[in-house]
Amino acid sequence: MPDRDWWSALWPAPGRVLVDLGIEPGLELVDLCCGDGHFTAAIAQQASRVTAIDIDPRMLELARTKVAAADAGHCTFIEGDAYDLAALVPRPVDLVFMANTFHGVPDPQRLARAVARILKPNGRFVVVNWQRRPREETRVLGKPRGPKSETRMEPAALAAALAPCALRLEHIVDLAPYHYGAILRKGTPESG
Ligand SMILES: C[S@@+](CC[C@H](N)C(=O)[O-])C[C@H]1O[C@@H](n2cnc3c(N)ncnc32)[C@H](O)[C@@H]1O
Repeated sequence: MPDRDWWSALWPAPGRVLVDLGIEPGLELVDLCCGDGHFTAAIAQQASRVTAIDIDPRMLELARTKVAAADAGHCTFIEGDAYDLAALVPRPVDLVFMANTFHGVPDPQRLARAVARILKPNGRFVVVNWQRRPREETRVLGKPRGPKSETRMEPAALAAALAPCALRLEHIVDLAPYHYGAILRKGTPESG
């Protein structure tokens, strides 16, 4: 998890990001790899049910505090590995949200299959990714920030990686200055 100072400067309004991504109120969703809850608190303020998952218990504790401070709605915190999603989440959800993490997933298709398994038909997988730009260019508070340049993905590469897992890229949202949101939708059995 990046340091708080530049993370808050980069993402001053997480609720606005959710609006830009078309994430409407009242959904049942998972915040996968939630970190310290920077987005979880905003999600929990508008969702009907949120499951926040992270492998690091210290992050979950910070997320729990942040959600409580925001006096947000129903949120469950689960320590676990993202690959084990189907075992961690008891019933299908409308949307899985994953911010600032996909670039580091060792086996993207394994993760995508796990996500697809817990989505309702037509459910969405929303991935917030760093733009594929040299790290030197993505500067916040005067310093280069974010993952190594070579790990960053073009939206087309993300779509190609996930298409075999029944997750189709529907559209891309520009999240200036340095990110994009990819909205992927689970196909129904009929749509393949
Ligand atoms: C860069 S942080 C992003 C946090 C948050 N999504 C955000 O954008 O503010 C990545 C998070 O992924 C978590 N993580 C890494 N590998 C994981 C795994 N295999 N399963 C679940 N969480 C994982 C880390 O503990 C960390 O909190």
